[in-house]
Amino acid sequence: MSQDAKEFGPISYHTQGDVALIGLNSAPVNALSKAVRIGVIDSVNEALANDSVSAIVLYSKLPLFSAGADISEFSGGDLSPMLPEVLEIIEQASKPVVAAVTGNAFGGGLELALACHYRVTHSKNKVGLPEVHLGILPGAGGTQRLPRLADAKTALDMIVTGAPTSVVKLGGVFDHVVDAPEETVEAAIEFANKVVADKLPIKRVCDINLSFDEQTKGLFTAYAEGVAAKTRGFFAPGHCVKAVEAAFTHSFKDGLSRESELFMECMKTPQARAQQHFFFAERAASHVSGLSKDVKPRSIDKVGVIGAGTMGGGIAMNFANAGIPVVMLEMKQEALDKGLALIRRNYENSAKKGKLTQAQVEERMALLSGTTDYDSLADVDLVIEAVFEKMSVKKEVFGALDKVCKPGAILASNTSTLDLNEIASAVSRPQDVIGLHFFSPANVMKLLEIVKGEKTADDVILTSMKLAKTIRKVGVLVGVCFGFVGNRMIEPYGREANRLMLEGASPEQVDRVIGKFGLPMGPFTMGDMAGLDIGYFVRESRREFIAHDPSYCVVADKLVQQGRNGLKSGRGAYLYEPGSRKPIPDPEVIAIAKEEAERLGIKQREISDQEILERCIYPLINEGADILKEGIAAKSSDIDVIYVYGYGFPVFRGGPMQYADEVGLSEVRDRLNYYKESLGEYGKHWFEPSDLLNELADAGKSFSSVK
Ligand code: 3HC
Ligand code: NAI
Repeated sequence: MSQDAKEFGPISYHTQGDVALIGLNSAPVNALSKAVRIGVIDSVNEALANDSVSAIVLYSKLPLFSAGADISEFSGGDLSPMLPEVLEIIEQASKPVVAAVTGNAFGGGLELALACHYRVTHSKNKVGLPEVHLGILPGAGGTQRLPRLADAKTALDMIVTGAPTSVVKLGGVFDHVVDAPEETVEAAIEFANKVVADKLPIKRVCDINLSFDEQTKGLFTAYAEGVAAKTRGFFAPGHCVKAVEAAFTHSFKDGLSRESELFMECMKTPQARAQQHFFFAERAASHVSGLSKDVKPRSIDKVGVIGAGTMGGGIAMNFANAGIPVVMLEMKQEALDKGLALIRRNYENSAKKGKLTQAQVEERMALLSGTTDYDSLADVDLVIEAVFEKMSVKKEVFGALDKVCKPGAILASNTSTLDLNEIASAVSRPQDVIGLHFFSPANVMKLLEIVKGEKTADDVILTSMKLAKTIRKVGVLVGVCFGFVGNRMIEPYGREANRLMLEGASPEQVDRVIGKFGLPMGPFTMGDMAGLDIGYFVRESRREFIAHDPSYCVVADKLVQQGRNGLKSGRGAYLYEPGSRKPIPDPEVIAIAKEEAERLGIKQREISDQEILERCIYPLINEGADILKEGIAAKSSDIDVIYVYGYGFPVFRGGPMQYADEVGLSEVRDRLNYYKESLGEYGKHWFEPSDLLNELADAGKSFSSVK
């Protein structure tokens, strides 16, 4: 280390020969906070003022080069100096500046590297401009500099999809690529020395001129159309295309102004607030408060899965995908063979689509074994039960596990509704019991509700949270109640959709409104896909709780009683042609609704789209408020994560609780009260605003304020 080593806030500075080394050192990810921005300016100025320095190398002292702008600063405050100012100082520096892109560079991190005069990296590195996932676009010159170094199509793809890209595919962007990551900084110093020795020019990206020829024009027209179709509902992607186009149609300076204008337009949208909220919500879900610091996770090296049906198969695949061996247990060999064959078919289909090689299929299948004998589970570290949703069956299974599983094995249930504490009462070690509630298809859906029972031990919770990451799920810790968080909240949503049909809305109208709101499908299409019999069986087990409302899902009940179980039986709320999943409106269903409405004395009427949206979504939010108040979810952002990853709630709305915060809780409360008054006895029963909603609305607060 040289004598002149110093620190400018989180930035380190020293010289090596003629080269000044500026090290980004702001843990955990070198977010470009105000302190970092000031530190970079000060250290660059220090290097420029020192006559014995002839070149500068900018590198990172952390594994990541930089994760870009500090997203937590987006909520406001005095942000000066802004990132574009910092980059302008670097680009205009009178001495060559070389970026040693030692690790991933994302967003403003990559923009920082693009403002340097040369870039050195290693071949295993990836970089990206993921701003679009935050509802914005690169706002520190990324949309202007990247297309000047890469081609238009590459720049568009990177900025519109936000996907990380291998540096190897970005030839024009990097001036020198080494193989070994640890050699990057040394290679950059050598490169800087060479620039000085050979008197190479200071290469400023801003000096490159682009032309907007007919071919490029055509590319942008086609690209904009494609983006509009593919990213329906999202605001930022279209703006990304416009910003990149400005690199071709404007001078560099005017292009930067246009980028800045489009950036601000995105930043002001509720979508940007929602997507930035969701970024932190997802990360916050992994922080479980209240666990003792001394707790250590248990090792999970082998897993058992009970039941090789719809869920068991998908659950087992998650572990095989992560390289963890799985033993699957069924009652009969036939069921076991069927389950394993289905898994193989799934893998083979992935191979056909080019997502897996045949060797990978075989590797994963080799990790799966089957048994009908509980003794084969004696050495597993975790067992997940996915048998029929019946308490007596679950208790019997847990009793058998208690006898054979080794001490310390985690005993988990995938139940979607049943009382985990009662299931735990069937074993002598309730501290080892937890709910691991996967969503269907279990090998695809990212959400894992981790259900903490009364007696679940802290290390079992910690292990489960860690396990979620291992199998690439987002784990959210919840408490015990009927349906936990997700299914408990979906109940009022489904109930209202059904009641709206009795009052005169058609399934297609309801589904259209919900689709327009941004969910991938409406409640009737979803019900048909899941199978209407599933909801029916849940209602059968809960008749005493819904008996007071004779209208409760009566049309859905009638459909099931007529054998209309949804897609699998070719008819449900819709009709389906053989082999097709396309829902076809069915006048017979409308007639059943009309008949039932008459029987119940409900007058059918025209129902507005706004009423449909409010009556489906606001009761779901109201239930979420109860869940929050009861502590079933620890924070409102956890509920948002559950809804985005488990139910396809549009991420551009940030989840139901964020959506309510955006609409305003007093508005949500007022509309619930409106329906409470206008829907007679039905309204009085189902539309009472939750205590928490009332409290927060009165205080002018949001759900996110509940800590
Ligand atoms: N700003 C502020 N905090 C950030 C951050 C950022 N850009 N990136 C990550 N963090 C925080 C996370 O919130 C988390 O905090 P926590 O421990 O308190 O929960 C911590 O850093 C670690 O992050 P991860 O848990 O996500 O760490 P991983 O190692 O799993 O992932 C990563 C690292 C891939 C860099 C991931 O954090 C990421 O994708 N970050 C965001 C990247 C991004 O979107 N950059 C663009 C920012 S906007 C921008 O640059 C605008 C510009 O164009 C003007
Ligand atoms: P399924 O009916 O497809 O599979 C259940 C399997 O368990 C069958 O193969 C059956 O032979 C086997 N089985 C039954 N009793 C058994 C026993 N005593 N020992 C060993 N095997 C036994 O059911 P599915 O859909 O997979 O559901 C399983 C569990 O997952 C249920 O608790 C359900 O509530 C829950 N779940 C279901 C979801 C879904 O969308 N299907 C979503 C989330 C949870």
